[in-house]
Amino acid sequence: MSFDLVFFGGTGDLTWRKLMPALFQAYRHGKLPGGGRILAVARDEQSDEKYRAWLKDRFQDVEGAKRPSDEEFERFAAQVFYRRMDLSQGEHYAKLKEWLATREGGPADTVVFYLATSPHLFTQVCEQLGAAGLNHPKVRVVLEKPLGHDLASSQHINRVVRSVFEEQQAFRIDHYLGKPSVQNLMALRFGNAFFEPLWRRESIANIQITLAESLGVGTRGPFYDGTGALRDMIQNHALQLLTMLAMEPPATNDADAIRDEKLKVLRALKPFTPESVARDVVRGQYRAGNVNGQAVPGYLEEQKVPAESRCETFVALRTEIQNWRWAGVPFYLRTGKRLAARDAQIVVNFRQVPHAIFPGPQRANRLIIKLQPEDGLELELLAAKGGAHGEALAPVKLDLDFDKAFSGSARVGAYERLLLDAIAGKLNLFVRSDEQEQAWRWVEPILHAWSTSTEPPRPYNAGSWGPAAASAMVARDGFTWPEEV
Ligand code: BG6
Repeated sequence: MSFDLVFFGGTGDLTWRKLMPALFQAYRHGKLPGGGRILAVARDEQSDEKYRAWLKDRFQDVEGAKRPSDEEFERFAAQVFYRRMDLSQGEHYAKLKEWLATREGGPADTVVFYLATSPHLFTQVCEQLGAAGLNHPKVRVVLEKPLGHDLASSQHINRVVRSVFEEQQAFRIDHYLGKPSVQNLMALRFGNAFFEPLWRRESIANIQITLAESLGVGTRGPFYDGTGALRDMIQNHALQLLTMLAMEPPATNDADAIRDEKLKVLRALKPFTPESVARDVVRGQYRAGNVNGQAVPGYLEEQKVPAESRCETFVALRTEIQNWRWAGVPFYLRTGKRLAARDAQIVVNFRQVPHAIFPGPQRANRLIIKLQPEDGLELELLAAKGGAHGEALAPVKLDLDFDKAFSGSARVGAYERLLLDAIAGKLNLFVRSDEQEQAWRWVEPILHAWSTSTEPPRPYNAGSWGPAAASAMVARDGFTWPEEV
């Protein structure tokens, strides 16, 4: 299958940091279909050779084992081309069309346009592609987040995209869906018989999703300050994880069968009111502190962050899913920058046994789904240590490390997986417009409550697990976050 893959924003951070290295990995793993061309477009005038030399230089910043040797780079770069484009000019799209048509063996089977540009250009680029006739059925368009900053702006983008492309041509990226650990979540639930009977309110006391980062906002201050943790991580990544955890078993592994089920979960989320935002959502902002033994500045001291900023760098919230399977089960979601560790995990806390015959504090089973940095599963069981009669039970762990278990096979990274799927036309791991809009609809009351609130975000020290109020929120239901157990 031949393909042409065009990166708008070809000199941008996303392209050289994530997309090109991911394509290179796909190439190295022998997964990139042969007969492909990769075209980077951006504003500067430069030759293919100059762009390749620049890219080679940028690859020096890529993680050691993922860096190409000179020889590997030469072979990979032979498929990489560069063209200057002013994205507002119709004639530049006509030239792009000519470039796509000029190809040994005729036009490619698939053309993928990847919008790795600033989001304010998405609608313009889509409209121009449509006007140039570059929206024929062989075309796919990949859109990177942020797709809008609220419901109205995301609906506007989707309307324009739909006026040019069919929904099946639109590939909305949420890179968390490409992570191997997240795909394992589907495998865990729908490829194994023994979890499903327990995967419901009768057996599960609560579920906690943590997406913690130890890094701060770094040089992304200007972008981040207009975004905040709710839009940056909760509206997309955390909610996507929640849908995968909570959805009903889809009838097939087809994209729409899965996306229909995910949408039902989003629609069943309990809507927020001003009162429930005040009670069930905690927002925080980091102050100076210590992360891994190193002193780090607070958010307000980061580059180009306004001194009075009320932008949240931390969110913890409690929600419920209003359906038969989950009624009354709290789902806690939390994310933050400059927390104690980089750690993304889901903890499923099971209920205690209905009648205790062993002495000591009553504990319950836990399933910990580790997303990163490790990719694995921990099932906490209770066992007798075999000591004195009447001894309390002790927790023991069944510990599965997927990186080790599958160490012989090349594990495919998130962007590599998603790029290969976009080329192959597989939509399973991409977000449909109705899911995305429903997610915005659900977070909007929180955004609204914050914008009218006089209370600033709660401060927390860099290197901690966020404001104490996040622990208090969970404690109110009689639970604790995993690091407090
Ligand atoms: C991005 C956010 O979507 O996800 C970033 O914009 C965040 O702020 C990143 O750092 C986290 O992704 P990962 O894969 O490193 O957990």
